[in-house]
Amino acid sequence: MTRAAYRKDARLFLSGKTLSGEQGLEIRNETPDDIVAIRAVTKAAFADMPFSSQTEAEIVDGLRAADAVRLSLVAVARGEVVGNVVFSDVTIDGREGWVGLGPVSVRPDLQRNGAGSALIREGLSRLQSEGAIGCVLVGDPGYYARFGFKVVPGLVYEGVPDDYVLALPFTDRPPAGAIKFHPAFEPA
Ligand SMILES: CC(C)(COP(=O)(O)OP(=O)(O)OC[C@H]1O[C@@H](n2cnc3c(N)ncnc32)[C@H](O)[C@@H]1OP(=O)(O)O)[C@@H](O)C(=O)NCCC(=O)NCCS
Repeated sequence: MTRAAYRKDARLFLSGKTLSGEQGLEIRNETPDDIVAIRAVTKAAFADMPFSSQTEAEIVDGLRAADAVRLSLVAVARGEVVGNVVFSDVTIDGREGWVGLGPVSVRPDLQRNGAGSALIREGLSRLQSEGAIGCVLVGDPGYYARFGFKVVPGLVYEGVPDDYVLALPFTDRPPAGAIKFHPAFEPA
């Protein structure tokens, strides 16, 4: 494991809970062999979430089937997929160049050990270096503020209170208007 990877996973090593030892946590691109595990992790992560429509695993599958996944990273510990984050292209007021974050999931027994943060930070860093304008999401500001996500006046997502519509611009151009996610986010 590289020094950078070790630093990113320091909490996993230090937690001494379920993840420890020589293998630690690896963040890498999704491969076809991960699909079944991603589905299971996503279902388990959202199972007890009161806000969930329980369609998140279907959304991930739908994005993949539509070839609309911009980036899907998995967190792997001891050879097992324990987390996943998916990014897909969105439009804001019809303009392209922005990316949407989600769903993001960590296996319930391993949550709060840094895996979610490691996935999100790696994803944002890659998207920024690829030239994305920025990232938006619908989620809890209490969690996403740590990555720099903020409420931006004028940025809206239909049906969602503005406090939960968050953006992280990678340039000095603030987003304004309505976010449109891929149709896979509205499974039938
Ligand atoms: C949200 C999720 C991906 C975070 O992954 P994780 O590996 O548990 O998170 P991390 O260990 O990187 O971060 C833990 C920190 O986030 C906080 N946190 C985790 N979930 C949170 C939430 N929903 N709201 C606010 N804070 C949250 C923890 O309190 C902890 O804070 P601390 O660093 O100050 O102690 C994971 O908890 C999960 O899969 N949750 C269920 C599915 C879900 O809600 N997905 C996001 C939908 S918007």
